[in-house]
Amino acid sequence: MDAYLVEGPCKIKGEVVVSGSKNASLPILAGCLLTEDECVIENVPDLADIRTMLKLLHLLGRESTREGDTVTVRGGKLVNHEAPYELVRTMRASISVLGPLLAKAGKARVSFPGGCAIGPRPIDLHIKGLQALGAEIEIHHGYLNATAGRLRGTNIHLAGPFGSSVLATDNVVMAATLAEGETLIDAAALEPETVDACRFLQAMGADIEGIGSSVLRIRGIAKLHGCRYRVIPDRIEAGTLLSTAACTGGEVFVRGACATHLERVLEIFRSAGCTIEEQKDGIRLQGPDKPRPVEVETLPYPEYPTDMQPQLMALASRAAGISVITERIYPDRFIHVPEFNRMGADIKLEGTSAVINGVDNLEGAPVMASDLRAGAALVLAALSAQGTTKVRRIYHIDRGYESLESKLVGLGANIRRFVEK
Ligand code: EPU
Repeated sequence: MDAYLVEGPCKIKGEVVVSGSKNASLPILAGCLLTEDECVIENVPDLADIRTMLKLLHLLGRESTREGDTVTVRGGKLVNHEAPYELVRTMRASISVLGPLLAKAGKARVSFPGGCAIGPRPIDLHIKGLQALGAEIEIHHGYLNATAGRLRGTNIHLAGPFGSSVLATDNVVMAATLAEGETLIDAAALEPETVDACRFLQAMGADIEGIGSSVLRIRGIAKLHGCRYRVIPDRIEAGTLLSTAACTGGEVFVRGACATHLERVLEIFRSAGCTIEEQKDGIRLQGPDKPRPVEVETLPYPEYPTDMQPQLMALASRAAGISVITERIYPDRFIHVPEFNRMGADIKLEGTSAVINGVDNLEGAPVMASDLRAGAALVLAALSAQGTTKVRRIYHIDRGYESLESKLVGLGANIRRFVEK
């Protein structure tokens, strides 16, 4: 299994280019199933989750090729309607083929995704939305079996106990584009990735109003066509790359980062003492010698994202005072806390809050990535720590960051990948 060896401390300095958004690309690639025409998607990052989605499209009958950051999903008919356990197990976003398969083939068999390292991840909102459109859905032997004649537009309230859902909104919108009549979704997700998926569907000819608001009106049409579409930059990768300088007191320019997608993140990083310049072509961040403590709750967009929670913890662990970070999206997303504490951090959990008593210095230690963002945050902590950190299970990081170590080496980090026997 691959692992990282990181030698700290270092002061990050330089410029790096942000890749295309993983979480926008995944539903967009699934959305290609809504047409039999070819779709050309630009700015798709080359990482494990994307390769898994392309494998799934292949199983469903759609071939794809990649040239640089452009993925072409060739035209063709669906030959299958099943997303098997082996793929869904490695990537929950496979659930986003459910809506397109139902709308296009009238049937779908998708492995029921279980919980994961960041806690339970229910799919009741996906089911509720698709049932409202007329699908019949049963769960047997670990699979969701869904069937439908032509879906019918209707009014759907998509709020869950933790607010809106990104992939449930995407799934229901995708299904509604080919339904008969009008669908009105309220409590739709506002995340830039959902906005991007809707714009992609518009480029395919879909009739969607209210994009970027919590109420989406979709007028179903009979057929969508192929298109060429460019995916937005990855705001979470951009935030993680900015965090390298925030955590090490260094300076970084993240070319291509979009400040409007990161407003709340930048506000919190400023409150922690970072100096940030928002430019037309990217974001520059100068980290503080000693961060100030922060108090933050994760919430749906435009509030502070849960996918930037562990990275902020890496920063807060060295702050001059006590920080409190509360999880309002995934109450159990704290498996990284004991790993930070192995590196000398002083973090206690109180319910769904982490209370972080800033320490002078972190120390290198052997640690283990438990999920994608936790893994990235351990690398951030390692960059600022005294001595050597070995980060194991970096396959989690490979799922969602394109070429992380080469980007970090370009910024002056001492990090290398090795194969652990
Ligand atoms: N929820 C429900 N019922 C549902 C679906 C969600 O109660 O049917 C709850 C969840 O338990 C959670 C909240 O709603 O408390 C939001 O979950 P959401 O459905 O928005 O998550 P998701 O769409 O499955 C996407 C990202 C995640 C990111 C979340 C929240 C993709 C592929 N994944 O997941 O990204 O954390 O939105 O912003 O877009 C990551 O990239 O590391 C990652 C985990």
